[in-house]
Amino acid sequence: MAKQRTLAILKPDCVRKGLIGEVIRRIQEAGFTIKAMKMTRLTKQTAGGFYAVHREKPFFDELTTFMSSGPCVPVVLEKENAIEDFRKLIGATNPANAEEGTIRRDFADSMGENIVHGSDSEENGRIEAAYFFAESELVANES
Ligand code: CMP
Repeated sequence: MAKQRTLAILKPDCVRKGLIGEVIRRIQEAGFTIKAMKMTRLTKQTAGGFYAVHREKPFFDELTTFMSSGPCVPVVLEKENAIEDFRKLIGATNPANAEEGTIRRDFADSMGENIVHGSDSEENGRIEAAYFFAESELVANES
């Protein structure tokens, strides 16, 4: 199967809890290659741009307030079947429904503060990666 890319974000709760290292360790152990990574801080407005598809949802304000509450770490990951495999690794959006051993089950407090984001399709992965990284940064780690 061809390699796929996904855009992950280690969210502000992940950073605050000192879990960047642990989450990256699990991601690498699961066979993902890191193609690009940085620490940044979203504003309420840039968080709103990233989550524009959720603009009409009742949780939009809570989501953008949380995502702009501290630094986060966007990461572009590559692996065969990356989209599906990453979503399996992190578990369900609501940590109460996430399978045992998943990142959200082990570390997330709630649906809103759920430690990590993963793209839901290859196309969205490309759009989301471009939100954080210039093309020149994405090819920096081409093999
Ligand atoms: P994420 O995978 O980053 O994509 C959208 C986010 O919206 C999701 O993770 C959750 O953190 C958040 N979200 C989804 N549903 C709810 C909800 N009902 N209440 C609060 N936040 C939510």
